[in-house]
Amino acid sequence: MSNFENIILEQLQDSIYCLTINRPKVLNALNKQTITEMAAAIDIVAEDGSARVLLITGSGEKSFVAGADISQMQTLTALEAKSFSEQALATFRRLELLDIPVIGLVNGFALGGGCELAMSCDFIFAAQNAKFGQPEVGLGVTAGFGGSQRLPRLVGRAMAMEMLVSGRMIDAQEALQRGLVNHVYPQAQLLEEGLNMAKKIVKNGPVAVKLTKELVQRGQDLDLENACAMESSLFGLCFASDEQKEGMSAFLEKRPAKF
Ligand code: HXC
Repeated sequence: MSNFENIILEQLQDSIYCLTINRPKVLNALNKQTITEMAAAIDIVAEDGSARVLLITGSGEKSFVAGADISQMQTLTALEAKSFSEQALATFRRLELLDIPVIGLVNGFALGGGCELAMSCDFIFAAQNAKFGQPEVGLGVTAGFGGSQRLPRLVGRAMAMEMLVSGRMIDAQEALQRGLVNHVYPQAQLLEEGLNMAKKIVKNGPVAVKLTKELVQRGQDLDLENACAMESSLFGLCFASDEQKEGMSAFLEKRPAKF
């Protein structure tokens, strides 16, 4: 699908897409071109009205994404570095605001920009060999793709601070215990488990799933009163859809819903 060099975008089933970062020789490090290609892939998925779930993973068995490409960053000027950060932040934000669930399948190292990409997914499944970390301070820089903001929101300020200032990597079990990942699976099962979850999501009302994502993503940055008011509005909006009529009729008629 399309002429990408550094990523693969494929449809695993009609409505389930998988985006693979594909630079295994450098452990799938993210350079500028890779992020540009990711943005184009997100456009393709966003424009396909039948798309229902996006999976994101890395090529090979060693690494999800080992960070931003250090060889490309080494010689950046301050303004170029700021622009690189902004390009990735905008692309990752599009994943959060994409109107379908995005599942990160972390199949190895998720370091720096890789951890930040994983955290921009709606939730993460990890392989047993996954390792998460923000080692940027060891390179003399801060996090630049959202890690200093998303990590504290996911694991709490104190744990995030520990990881961000020490660069300590955590393994899949610790990531599970800290609430960074939802499940840990053997490497060979990771894609299958991601696909199984995607199939479960696809069985539900597509509009309800999209509105649920909007509520969670947009609601977390609002105060509780406004967030709950948004929930009432979107809940009410569901009653304007055929989906609500079919879902509730199917329950009362004791048959599976046809969405
Ligand atoms: C460029 C990278 C890379 C990276 C690995 N490689 N990570 N190249 N950028 N982020 C390359 C190595 O140079 C090497 O190339 C090849 O991939 C294999 O890596 P090795 O180091 O030989 O593998 P191993 O010894 O198993 O160590 C794995 C590793 C290590 C622990 C993941 O590669 C590592 O520490 N990588 C860097 C991790 C990191 O610091 N990430 C944060 C980047 S900063 P050759 O040619 O030698 O085979 C960041 C900031 C984001 O992400 C914000 C920016 C605005």
